[in-house]
Amino acid sequence: MASHNQAASPRPATVAWAGDAVEILDQTALPGAEVVLRCTTVAEVVDAITRLAVRGAPAIGVAGAYGVALAAQLHSPDSEPGHFAAAVDQLRAARPTAVNLARMVDRAAAHAAAGPGAVLAAAHEIRDQERTASFAMGELGADLLTELAGARPLRVMTICNTGGLASVERGTALAVIQTLHERGMLAEALPLETRPLLQGGRLTTWELARMGAPHRLLVDSAAAYLLSRGAADAVVVGADRIAANGDTANKVGTFALSLGARHAGVPFVVVAPESTIDMDTATGGAIQIEDRGADEVCSFHGVAVSPPGTAAVNPAFDVTPVALVTALVTDRRVVRFDTGATLAATPVGP
Ligand code: MRU
Repeated sequence: MASHNQAASPRPATVAWAGDAVEILDQTALPGAEVVLRCTTVAEVVDAITRLAVRGAPAIGVAGAYGVALAAQLHSPDSEPGHFAAAVDQLRAARPTAVNLARMVDRAAAHAAAGPGAVLAAAHEIRDQERTASFAMGELGADLLTELAGARPLRVMTICNTGGLASVERGTALAVIQTLHERGMLAEALPLETRPLLQGGRLTTWELARMGAPHRLLVDSAAAYLLSRGAADAVVVGADRIAANGDTANKVGTFALSLGARHAGVPFVVVAPESTIDMDTATGGAIQIEDRGADEVCSFHGVAVSPPGTAAVNPAFDVTPVALVTALVTDRRVVRFDTGATLAATPVGP
């Protein structure tokens, strides 16, 4: 039976500025505890991003921008330009795949000459834009799914965590699911647990329960089978970087999910803000995919699950070719790849 809990009380912000620190809701502690990390140094912000205390493309972009604001406060770009530049470099390199991180770090750092206040204002603006974008994606995505899959309550499969934890509010693919739920058009959400770190099993279930949306969790390896048996009407996923041709890097497992959706004949929709599109990267083959090492695969929460010394391959993301993507929903347009539309030729709305 689908879980359908009551909406919950407010939670700490995913990322917030606290005057002299960046506050981050520690996603490694969820769903067990709501722990807020108070980062007073740039190294602590970098560490929080690296070990996925904050994660998800838009959220690490916002955290990176606030990290630059902290750097500007601690190391004046005027009197300590070397320190400031080194801090910016460390922030932008904390994770390589999501374009949002380097892009938002650079955007905040571009205001350094105008002083720390200007850098902080830029970081606030980035946060506010991502928040506004998430509402727009929810609306556009819900409209599109209703058009593609039918004007009735839908069963929607998704991977990883793409909600307010992965952005600053509502999120990307999960914002679409939330909007469908609020419209009375969600029959059930079907999140994949998302190995190896269980972003779906720990975080998406937590967010769905908090919004009171019906859902059932599945193991990643059940997805294609369940799709082939007609278990879902559509698949929606987020993105970490979208190349100019529409190839999409997202959480590892997304490519397999797209193949399952194609086999089952259900729409496979990518949902991401314009800030995740990288027109400087021609195709998915040029996207750097983060490898997070063997420990995450061979142990869980510090407990070994494989014999000592087991070698592992651990790409955090994969690339779904645009040919398998039905459509991309951003905050400002819908690109129908299935009808031959391209990113370059589809105008960006206001
Ligand atoms: O490694 P993660 O948890 O940061 O990966 C996150 C994802 O792959 C999300 O799907 C993506 O960032 C889009 S989130 C709005």
